Amino acid sequence: MLLRLSLTIGALAALVHGIGQDTCVTFQSSSSSFTVASNGKAAPIILSSDEWPGVQRAAQDFAADIQKVTGIKATVANFTSSTPARSSLPIIVGTLGKSTLIDQIVNSTKLDVSSLENQWEAFKTQVVANPLPGIAKAYVMIGADKRGTIFAMYDHSEQFGVSPWYWWADVPTTHQSSLFVAPSGCSHGSPTVKYRAIFLNDEQPALQNWAAEKFTNGTGAALTGSPFNTMFYSKLFELLLRMKANHLWPAQWSSAFGVDDPLNQFTADYYGIIMGTSHEEPMMRSIPVEWNLFGQGPWDFNVNSQNITNFWINGTIRSAPFENLWTVGMRGNGDEPITGSAPIALLEAIIANQTQIFQDVLNVTDPSIVPQVWALYKEVEGYYDEGLRVPDYISLLWSDDNWGNVRRYPLPSERNRTGGAGVYYHYDYVGDPRDYKWITSTQIPKVFEQMSIAVDRDATRVWVVNVGDMKPYEREIEFFLTYAWNSSLWNPDNLDTFVSSWAQREFDLSKGDAGTVTEIVTNLTRFNARRKPELLNSSTFSLINYREADNVLAAWTTLQDASTAIYNKLPEGTQPAFFQLVHHPVLASANLGTMLIAAGQSVLRASQARLSANAFADEAETLFERDFDLETEYHTLLDGKWDHMMDQTHLGYAYWQQPMHNSMPQISRVQKNKQALPGVMRISPEGTLAAWPGDNQFQCAQMFSCPPPTITMDQFDPIPNKFIDVGAGGPAPFTWTAEVNASWLTVTPSHGSISPNNTEDRVFLEVNWNEFEAGAQATVNFTAVSGNPPTTLLVQAFIVPNKTEVPADFKGFVEGGGAIAFEAEHATRNNTVAGMFWRVMPGLGKTLSGVTPWPRLGNNENNFTAGTGPSLEYDFYNFNGGNLTVTALVSPSGNGLGADRPLGFAMQVDEGAPQSNYFFPNAAPGAEPAAWDGLNGFVANSIISAQNAFEVEAGAHTLKLFMIEPAVVVQKIVIDTGGVKASYLGPPESVLIS
Ligand SMILES: *[C@@H]1O[C@H](CO)[C@@H](O)[C@H](O)[C@H]1NC(C)=O
Ligand SMILES: *[C@@H]1O[C@H](CO)[C@@H](O)[C@H](O)[C@H]1NC(C)=O
Repeated sequence: MLLRLSLTIGALAALVHGIGQDTCVTFQSSSSSFTVASNGKAAPIILSSDEWPGVQRAAQDFAADIQKVTGIKATVANFTSSTPARSSLPIIVGTLGKSTLIDQIVNSTKLDVSSLENQWEAFKTQVVANPLPGIAKAYVMIGADKRGTIFAMYDHSEQFGVSPWYWWADVPTTHQSSLFVAPSGCSHGSPTVKYRAIFLNDEQPALQNWAAEKFTNGTGAALTGSPFNTMFYSKLFELLLRMKANHLWPAQWSSAFGVDDPLNQFTADYYGIIMGTSHEEPMMRSIPVEWNLFGQGPWDFNVNSQNITNFWINGTIRSAPFENLWTVGMRGNGDEPITGSAPIALLEAIIANQTQIFQDVLNVTDPSIVPQVWALYKEVEGYYDEGLRVPDYISLLWSDDNWGNVRRYPLPSERNRTGGAGVYYHYDYVGDPRDYKWITSTQIPKVFEQMSIAVDRDATRVWVVNVGDMKPYEREIEFFLTYAWNSSLWNPDNLDTFVSSWAQREFDLSKGDAGTVTEIVTNLTRFNARRKPELLNSSTFSLINYREADNVLAAWTTLQDASTAIYNKLPEGTQPAFFQLVHHPVLASANLGTMLIAAGQSVLRASQARLSANAFADEAETLFERDFDLETEYHTLLDGKWDHMMDQTHLGYAYWQQPMHNSMPQISRVQKNKQALPGVMRISPEGTLAAWPGDNQFQCAQMFSCPPPTITMDQFDPIPNKFIDVGAGGPAPFTWTAEVNASWLTVTPSHGSISPNNTEDRVFLEVNWNEFEAGAQATVNFTAVSGNPPTTLLVQAFIVPNKTEVPADFKGFVEGGGAIAFEAEHATRNNTVAGMFWRVMPGLGKTLSGVTPWPRLGNNENNFTAGTGPSLEYDFYNFNGGNLTVTALVSPSGNGLGADRPLGFAMQVDEGAPQSNYFFPNAAPGAEPAAWDGLNGFVANSIISAQNAFEVEAGAHTLKLFMIEPAVVVQKIVIDTGGVKASYLGPPESVLIS
């Protein structure tokens, strides 16, 4: 019986798609289940008239959600002696210590509410017998506080099938004829992170233009023009609460939350959202907008302290009635550093001044009861490093580098502050080295990797994520908030279930299709994170080495096809949600990536005198216009509901700031009716920018009168063949043949016809290594025949194979193509030391995954000296002795443990001396090292190349990667044996003999 019951619950639970929460809802009854709605009747929802207004409001949403799912209307009423009808079995909702109804039930039934007492936002729900006179049983939903009760209801709504994003991403609600809850209900304790926020930032052009169209009659707020009024924010507050967020930093650049709409602050408080202002806007006033409107004199506390104090006093008076988390401190106007020669003393004076304002205006003697946060953003962190301290009760908000790498976490000595610590994180950014604000480019495994360190190191008081215009980052926003709500549910190995559960909840997919969507999302965000789309150009991916650009193109095509297949089989009502959340980002990102490579190919081919340049140029132009068509498709969806949301420009960046219009990448063409000087046929082998016949600067050092091409082939090259393109040098058609003078070399195809309709053929060369005898070489004669009378053109290519042998008993990675490369997770051995080991972080990084020392607080939080820590070992075989450069490709994390514990690891080959590597240089306080910045820097490349050199003889060896410090993430390792070629992602993984 017990077994059957659990099987039934398991089978039913599969239909319920609440993410990161208990499951207590079922769609089919069991003997003990409580009926929420069934047979045309819904349980009435009963509240207490002295309940929080925000709970009263959310209860209306709760009833509407039940109706949305079942079509059955639930009544919502305050308890009176005549409500509910005595025969009904109601749902009773209320807040402990606030709702007299709930307190009465707790008192009379002796219900155990110890799990709620003195908790923050906790809740429990369960069936209670005889809760009130005449009522046999009820489903009682109790919150520890206002938001605890609200979250209890929204938690159930999500399980019923109402996505938090039902309005914001048009996720349809799946109809159910009945809704039931298990008698034991659902419960949740206090969340991991106390204040969980998003920050709307840099909201032009997308969010602001959209909101202006949808929430105003064309003119925004009187003083600011802002469209972000109470109608807009009500929608947002509901979304936030449905995701169990409780905090918001509002839009700021041309807005002032407290001024734009006098109802804004009131509405936030009514809904239950704790307001804040951004890191650079102290005392609940928008900077620069409000200061520019109302401030007198300069925004400089050195010279204008009285006016600034008055300004803050007024902001404090205005916000006093509401629940706030107050930003304290100060930055200069326009989000710049404050001025003056003694910023630390000045900031100390500023904070003392703000403390006095709290005491005076809020009438408190103990300022520690006022929730306050001080953001250690950019140079402000530098002041902290130089000794500036604020009172213990002020939360320290550590910040990332604006690129998703948290710069500092609390040190053990900083973890017992009463105000605790938090993290300010970015999904979107305006600034150096380049804005990224167009489309989703953050990997959930990366967010997890960074924010789980924050959990480990107790930076859990406040989390704020900068979400730009919000809309293209829906899924990643929800992950941030879900993880902040209950971090204990998530680990590196189950992160993919966040996306698959999300896909099932949003699109009602089968498990298989949800798996496909998870892969799509993994690849979409990986491709956009390995280099932000704003930083890509037409030669980011090598057009000649490792087939890198071709592989990138193929991967985009696969991704588009997979997304299209899912899109096409979804019901019409689900397609708009899928389009917004998955399909548009896939199509638009793939389009941009494909366009840039086509542009690059046109320029390369034109330089090689190939007619095919023109088709690539045409393709780039077509895709350039298609970029806007995709934007338009988004904007016209659902009668224009999301008009402007994709207004963001993203093509043609010239410096860090967004371009004012999208512009074409450089393309090139050849004259389509003229012949290339050297004749009809062009021969272009892979791996070179050169082409034959005729002169080309890349053929040889002399750049003219160069010999025909020589192509080396390596037995253990991970790419087992080589190609040569046979192409048109102009409009004249020709036929071609490729003749080989060696039986061990095959050429496929060996003949073809080229014309303006088929401008090039790709010919693959393959060596039969069993037949090949060391030292042999071959010649391929490419002969073109054209014209009438026919003339021939001969171009030769010399093939030089390199046959290498490894001992029969060798296992490991083998040198090929001048390199040994492997993913960091593909270690031969993994050695644990003091309970610590290198753990695989699936999905992280540019190519496959990352490895990181685990558990992070292991070894008593001490580091290891080089060569003593946990290690990964990689067996490899090299054919050329000498100096090998070993490059560890590591995530561009910052020195989060402070300047005296910089990130580092050690490498060792065989029993040689271990070499340590501290790859992230310490910078001046509050600054980033020079190598972090620039178009070829750490964050632009999304990687740090950490190198060590080892003197090694030819043969079998073992590379060891040792932990020195935690929080180092190694993605891939490349050993250069003298032949590594330029590429963005590094050589492909070497042949592994296992
Ligand atoms: C319950 O009473 C409160 C206070 O009078 C009122 O604001 C609220 O609208 C009532 N709720 C319902 C559902 O009638
Ligand atoms: C709790 O119930 C008892 C009777 O069972 C009553 O005397 C007491 O006043 C109640 N307390 C509250 C706080 O309602």
